[in-house]
Amino acid sequence: MSARATGAAAGPRIFSGVEPTGHLTLGNYLGAMRRWVEVDQHRGDALFCVVDLHALTVEHDPARVRRLSRQAATLMLAMGLDPERCTVFVQSHVDEHARLSYLMECTATDGEMRRMLQYREKDAERAGRGGSVRLSLLTYPALRAADILAYGTQEVPVGADQAQQVELTRELAVRFNQRYGEVFVVPRATYPEAAARVRGKSGQGRMSGGVCLLDEPEVVRMKVMRAVMEGGSGAVEYERGERPGVADLLEVLAAFSGGEPERLAEGYASYGALQSDVAEAVVEGLRPVRERHAALAANREYVDAVLRAGAERARGLARPRVDAAYRAVGLMA
Ligand code: TRP
Repeated sequence: MSARATGAAAGPRIFSGVEPTGHLTLGNYLGAMRRWVEVDQHRGDALFCVVDLHALTVEHDPARVRRLSRQAATLMLAMGLDPERCTVFVQSHVDEHARLSYLMECTATDGEMRRMLQYREKDAERAGRGGSVRLSLLTYPALRAADILAYGTQEVPVGADQAQQVELTRELAVRFNQRYGEVFVVPRATYPEAAARVRGKSGQGRMSGGVCLLDEPEVVRMKVMRAVMEGGSGAVEYERGERPGVADLLEVLAAFSGGEPERLAEGYASYGALQSDVAEAVVEGLRPVRERHAALAANREYVDAVLRAGAERARGLARPRVDAAYRAVGLMA
């Protein structure tokens, strides 16, 4: 029987999530998710969540969000998250997220929310177009803090691009506890080991952001071969600042084949040779995930049952703490 099922899960409480706003990319996988599979689910009591409520913060198509949510959950299992070891679930199946989010809105200030990069970027785009953004995009960090704090989370394994968001969650937890009493655990972000570090979302537009986990091999090859290589025809070198495109390829190669990007660079006389090796490494590296995804996608009942059980367990964990938070702020809960 699994550690979780016996209730004997040792190690830290871990929570992370992925948004079903687009197809999951190689950057999502190498930037954070692979570590969930290889490290986090073995180290502690881990919960992994498809954060579908967050997908409603931008213009969305209902059918697409539903489809991408199922796909993300299926992919998480296909990558190797084992429902016997960790809890996989969908955010909207557990009311406590939205319930606690309101208290977080009553803890945070509008200035803090406006400083978040995600909001500033979208807000700047909007200003350019003369359009508007949804209010939930501004309040998103409150929901995100709720996701994490509802579970007494100690560690949040994320991509390096998410540091600012976890920092705000920490501040809100500390502030809440100081004002109302110790209800929340103050979490910390954890990041993949350097060897597996590949830019996550900030790599978008680069190869690792452009390759989707379910792309067919020919599509993967085409995207890798088209990856932009700044720096003309010079030597292949690992220079994150000067040549992010080449660095991205070397990091992806290192993530799949082992080794250090700096050293791998020495083995290449041309970009073309690097590109074709990366293309093959990615195609082979993703093959098992794609194949398992296909098998799981054909077995909807199984995936649904996993998500139902996951939501039930998550609810049971979150409910008492969210109730305690409601009481602490003066509600008659
Ligand atoms: N913001 C994350 C992303 O952009 C998703 C997310 C939502 C998340 N809530 C979270 C990640 C809580 C970790 C913990 O992908």
